[in-house]
Amino acid sequence: MKNVAIVLTFLIAAGVATPAFSQQADSAPGQRLFQQRCGACHQIATPRNGVGPNLQGIVGRAAGSVGGFRYSPALKDSGVTWTPETLETFLTNPTTMVRGTRMTQRFNNADERRAIIEFLGSR
Ligand code: HEC
Repeated sequence: MKNVAIVLTFLIAAGVATPAFSQQADSAPGQRLFQQRCGACHQIATPRNGVGPNLQGIVGRAAGSVGGFRYSPALKDSGVTWTPETLETFLTNPTTMVRGTRMTQRFNNADERRAIIEFLGSR
């Protein structure tokens, strides 16, 4: 009985035991993935720039338009507006879409891209 209690406590702490917890986990995969894949370079919870520009409100914004960030000329002059579609193309292969951009990392997992873009759209 004591062991069951310990296991349950562990599962609840891990967020897998109760419907309330698992629902919360399901609604946040994009946020988690963003932290893992993008968070080293991009801030979204605060308006600060990092290695990369701040991404608050990125969906609907013109590329290269965050104040105080020194963009590559390539991105600044790209004429791109960020939509779920252009973000999908960019994340799949940034340098193919914007030749000369300083963001060079590709994100190959389509499910992860979709979750991250959904998360970006909610900010
Ligand atoms: C290693 C650092 C790094 C990582 C990791 C990274 N980026 Fe970037 N990102 C940059 C840099 C640097 C720029 C600016 C590129 C330029 O000026 O050409 C940028 C630019 C961007 C832009 C254009 C922003 C604007 O204002 O036009 C978007 C959108 C973007 N990144 C999304 C992402 C997403 C989403 C992820 C995670 C899946 C990610 N980046 C991961 C460094 C990174």
